[in-house]
This record gives sequence, C-alpha cells and structure tokens, in this order.
Amino acid sequence: MTDKPSPSTSGGNTPGYAYGQPEVARSPISLQDLEQLKASVMFGPADQQALREAGEVLSGQIHDVLEVWYGFVGQNPHLVAYFSTPDGDPIPDYLARVRQRFGEWIMDTCTRPYDQEWLDYQEEIALRHTPAKKNKTDHANSVPAIPLRHLIAFIYPVTATVRPFLAKGGHDQEKVEAMHQAWAKSVTLQIALWSRPYAVEGIW
Ligand code: HEM
Repeated sequence: MTDKPSPSTSGGNTPGYAYGQPEVARSPISLQDLEQLKASVMFGPADQQALREAGEVLSGQIHDVLEVWYGFVGQNPHLVAYFSTPDGDPIPDYLARVRQRFGEWIMDTCTRPYDQEWLDYQEEIALRHTPAKKNKTDHANSVPAIPLRHLIAFIYPVTATVRPFLAKGGHDQEKVEAMHQAWAKSVTLQIALWSRPYAVEGIW
C-alpha cells in the first residue's frame, strides 16, 4: 500500500490526482462568494501564513497523519462502508489510492493559494463524494455517494487529530495554536464549499 505523497505536492505520481488539470471542471462558485465564505470562517492572511508553516511541520508526517485518519475510519464500519462494495466488502486498492490523494490534499490545504484553480479542485473533490463522480477516478465498484452529514461530522476528527502533529515542529504553544486554528478554519471552509452539490438549487 503506497501512502507517501510526493513532498513537492506536484501529485505527479498520485493516481487520479488532477489538481490544475484540464479535466477538472470550473467551479460554479465565484471568487467573490469564496471571499465572503473566507470572511464567514474568519480566515485571513495570517491564517494563510500559519498554514504555510503548518505545511512545513506536516510535510514529513503525512504518513503518520494518514495512519490516524484511516485508523479512525477503519474502526467505524459505517465509514468503511463508503470504501466498500455495496455488499460490504472493503476494496483495498480504492482505500490505498484515495489515501494517497488525501496526502496531497493535506499539503494543498497548507501551501496552495486559494485561487480559481484551487476553487475548481474543491468542486472536483466535492463531486467525487457524490454520485456525479464517486468511484469514477479509481473505477471502484463501491457505493454511489457519501452522505453530506458524514462530511460535516468528519470536520471534527480531521481537525482535532492534527494538533499533536502540529505540536511536533518545535514551535511555541502560541504558534501551534495559530496553526491549528488556521487548519480548523480551512477545513470548515472547504466542507462548506463541498456542500454545494448536495444543496437545493438557489439556497446553497
Ligand atoms: C472533513 C471531511 C472530509 C475531507 C477533508 C475529505 C477529504 C477527501 C479527499 C482529499 C479526497 C480525495 C480527493 C481527490 O480525489 O483528489 C477524498 C475522497 C474520498 N473520500 Fe473524503 N473527505 C472527507 C469526508 C469523507 C467521509 C466522511 C467519508 C466516508 C467514509 C469519505 C470518503 C471518501 C471516499 C470514498 C473518497 C473517494 C471518492 C472517489 O471515488 O473519488 N470522505 N476525501
């Protein structure tokens, strides 16, 4: 099982990772909506800077972070089910490939500018959780969608469990706190964006 993303975050050898590629559709969300959403989660330039530093701390720990997150999924059969066949058999290859892209996402969250290209890949990731695109990238024989309620609930584990890793970079408590707050804001922002295809037209 390969789960070490390229440290460059280029994603060159991560199957199905399509950041910046022509096949990624343009997000229907405007950059103005993105700016407003950033304001709603209190995300500002200091957070972007704190995420850059978080990226430096996390870059050597991606494998260990993913061990924790996948361990959590593995302990919850109702979550493993979304990486399984409709009959409930886990699909190891699907788990492994998505895991590698998850590693790319950690570094993208920390290091990419939140611009049009980033917004477009947010839409792509959103769709990959819905019947529009789930399973397509990996040709997986899995269930068609991940319910929105689990995406929202998953914000907590993805946020809480990252703190010990941020604390391993040798920074003082204040800096660790700033990095963790920035991470929490970004994950919340991203799941807000990913909720778009689940929402009733006009009230997203
Ligand atoms: C905070 C919430 C979540 C985050 C940040 C997240 C992150 C990601 C990322 C980064 C990818 C890969 C994107 C790519 O293809 O480049 C992905 C795909 C996937 N995620 Fe999530 N995810 C979340 C919630 C969940 C939950 C609750 C489940 C259910 C177990 C789940 C199951 C999956 C599956 C099955 C895929 C593969 C989709 C496909 O077929 O392409 N995710 N997720």
